[in-house]
Amino acid sequence: MEQPMALLAQIDGLGRDARRGGYSRPVHSPAENELREWFIAAAEQRGLLVETDRNGILWAWWGHPGPNAVVTGSHLDSVPGGGAYDGPLGVASALSAIDLMRRRGQQPGRPLAVAVFPEEEGSRFGVACMGSRLLSGAISPDKARNLTDAEGNTLSDVYRANGIAPEHLGEDRERLAGIRQFVELHIEQGRGQVDLGAAVAVGGSILGHGRWRLSFRGQGNHAGTTLMSDRADPMVAAAQAVVAVRRIAAGRSGARGTVGRLSPIPGGTNVIASRVDVWVDVRHRADAVTASIVEELYASATAIAAAEGCTATLTEESLSPTVHFDAGLAGELGAVLGQVPVLESGAGHDAGVLAARIPTAMLFVRNPTGVSHAPEEQIDAPDADAGAVALADVLAHLSNAGESS
Ligand code: GLV
Ligand code: MN
Ligand code: MN
Repeated sequence: MEQPMALLAQIDGLGRDARRGGYSRPVHSPAENELREWFIAAAEQRGLLVETDRNGILWAWWGHPGPNAVVTGSHLDSVPGGGAYDGPLGVASALSAIDLMRRRGQQPGRPLAVAVFPEEEGSRFGVACMGSRLLSGAISPDKARNLTDAEGNTLSDVYRANGIAPEHLGEDRERLAGIRQFVELHIEQGRGQVDLGAAVAVGGSILGHGRWRLSFRGQGNHAGTTLMSDRADPMVAAAQAVVAVRRIAAGRSGARGTVGRLSPIPGGTNVIASRVDVWVDVRHRADAVTASIVEELYASATAIAAAEGCTATLTEESLSPTVHFDAGLAGELGAVLGQVPVLESGAGHDAGVLAARIPTAMLFVRNPTGVSHAPEEQIDAPDADAGAVALADVLAHLSNAGESS
């Protein structure tokens, strides 16, 4: 078997970000396109049949494409300045698992595919899990086509320039009907497995999460000539809103509230901004709590804005309800793997989106730093090997299990 770390070493140089540290691999950037090429070459070297579907998802088939297929895979895009493993570990481990099954002489009794999902992070067009959302109909193709990146390019134009016809984006019932089960292996993004001393874990659920844009509008003006008493400064409102996110989320047990990005317009040192956009990420295992946090935040932002002579508007950019993975499939993984813990994931995954349409499961591999979406994300080679072995065991079982299982 080519080990996951050896495969990841082949892509180590792609998308390194000297300014932020780590990797910046937004969908269809030169780096992400090179990663896709790397995947296609690695899959073809293994005799897999590679296709790109109409939503830009790569599928590498061992055996004839569908029906009744078992699918594994993950993503190759990253957040800005992200780690090496969030996404690529699942793709590399899938290839390793196929190598291992072959070395053991295990032949899948039904089609087996490795899928690579585009724009999982939503770091270019703002909506996470774009590939799996389009495939499963969780986002309308019209909404997707009109999303823009930071340079103002539409998703439609970017996809077209990369060989994906935007008019054909959208729910693919035929493809979904051909998938029996989906299993995504992923680096654990918190400290769960470190604390439990477990190299491998099974996913039980994913916290519901969403992204909102708070836009504060005031009066753009001159930093030197505008008296402090004459200002309607949306930056001052935005700063208070950031603190309000922390306060409101900290007041609800188990909630997470984050502002990781804000953008002042026009954004000059000697310019009072006319508008500031603040992106807020809120998560909780109870969807009603997520909704109430956002409601309280909007009320607070409106009051903050009024006190500063500004206005506030709130726009939902994406929302993913809490997901509980298929209990029967998780049970099968548990039976194959023995004593492995079941984890709740605070991070979102394509597996969470697909779970609405297909029996879906996840495997997690221990992250010794517990840090993710940052360069300090880490995997130890023996854990990566253990993850690939676990995935091979699971795939060998699922691709041969009887129809009744
Ligand atoms: C993706 O990793 C997310 O949880 O936002
Ligand atoms: Mn990921
Ligand atoms: Mn991520």
